[in-house]
Amino acid sequence: MYSRKCGRLFYGFCTEIKTLRAINAKGATAPEIARRVLSSWTVCKHQRHQLLQRQPPDNRLHAGSVRQASHTTLDPEEARKFQSLADKWWDLQGAFAALHSMNDLRVPFIRDNLLSVHGSGVPGRPLAGLRILDVGCGGGLLTEPLGRLGAEVLGIDPVEDSIRTAELHTSHDPELRGRVHYRACTLEELAQSEGEDGDGGGGSVTEGFDAVVASEVVEHLADLDIFAACCHQVLKPGGSLFITTINKTNLSYALGIVAAEQLLRIVPSGTHDWEKFISPVDLERLLESSGFQVESIRGMMFNPLSGFWSWTQSTPMNYALHATKRSEEPGRNRAESQEMEQETLTRAAAV
Ligand SMILES: C[S@@+](CC[C@H](N)C(=O)[O-])C[C@H]1O[C@@H](n2cnc3c(N)ncnc32)[C@H](O)[C@@H]1O
Repeated sequence: MYSRKCGRLFYGFCTEIKTLRAINAKGATAPEIARRVLSSWTVCKHQRHQLLQRQPPDNRLHAGSVRQASHTTLDPEEARKFQSLADKWWDLQGAFAALHSMNDLRVPFIRDNLLSVHGSGVPGRPLAGLRILDVGCGGGLLTEPLGRLGAEVLGIDPVEDSIRTAELHTSHDPELRGRVHYRACTLEELAQSEGEDGDGGGGSVTEGFDAVVASEVVEHLADLDIFAACCHQVLKPGGSLFITTINKTNLSYALGIVAAEQLLRIVPSGTHDWEKFISPVDLERLLESSGFQVESIRGMMFNPLSGFWSWTQSTPMNYALHATKRSEEPGRNRAESQEMEQETLTRAAAV
């Protein structure tokens, strides 16, 4: 889907961001920042060349090579950030307003892709009979609409207060009773507890989920390899993984951090760390090496004036990805795949 050459060039271009951030920290004006955002490709290409010289060839673009191995998906600093916002989830004009309006795109994206795999269900409840895990559900902004489409949904989040907010909000809708559950934990804790007692808190997931959703979550995680391995473990063969996240580009720094956090205050300052953003090409590579087949990637753009999202042809900012779990990893037999998954989980559990 994306050529290796483009990916490398893109990686080099992104290194310019470090300079940009230093300038912004010194209190540069918007035009100065904009000028830097449009800075020359020559500099970027030179930096890319230096970077590639320093890195062993096999690690040049592998997502794992630019992330620290931390043996857990949980970054305590991220948990603290979301803890301080745990009672704000259902404020439609507040810190999570853009996530509320993102439902206009992400709910149909998930629904239509699931319907294309599983066929149409009961009228009015098209996802009836499907079991979905919503990882990093926060206050249940996406969990609830998926439940209303008829799916049985388990929302998990390590921030207990967010889970309480989600439970309270969901309890007001009788339609969701018995269909939407929540649990305060990380994905690796859920996967581990499934290995031990087969009950993830919203009923057993030993059979596996039909879909795992992680919307606006991966950019807050400490380790994406563990995340991918756990998603693979809890999914049924052929099950779907849906991710929405932010690309690692100059534009995502300029619009997603400088404009959205510092100038327009659409989201609280410090919500995002550009270093943790991941490009579609890196995410695709990571998922493919973790036993997934990437089916589609679509660009998304937020309009701060209208407050609405729209699909875009390219992916310089946000994007939505749909992948499916391959039944077996190429070049590995089933026993080897399970052994590798178990090793990753044991590593996570040991910390
Ligand atoms: C930007 S919010 C997205 C919330 C929700 N998915 C939505 O779109 O409405 C990111 C969420 O990820 C959660 N999170 C952070 N680290 C996590 C981890 N290691 N495992 C699961 N969730 C995590 C945060 O607590 C927060 O609720």
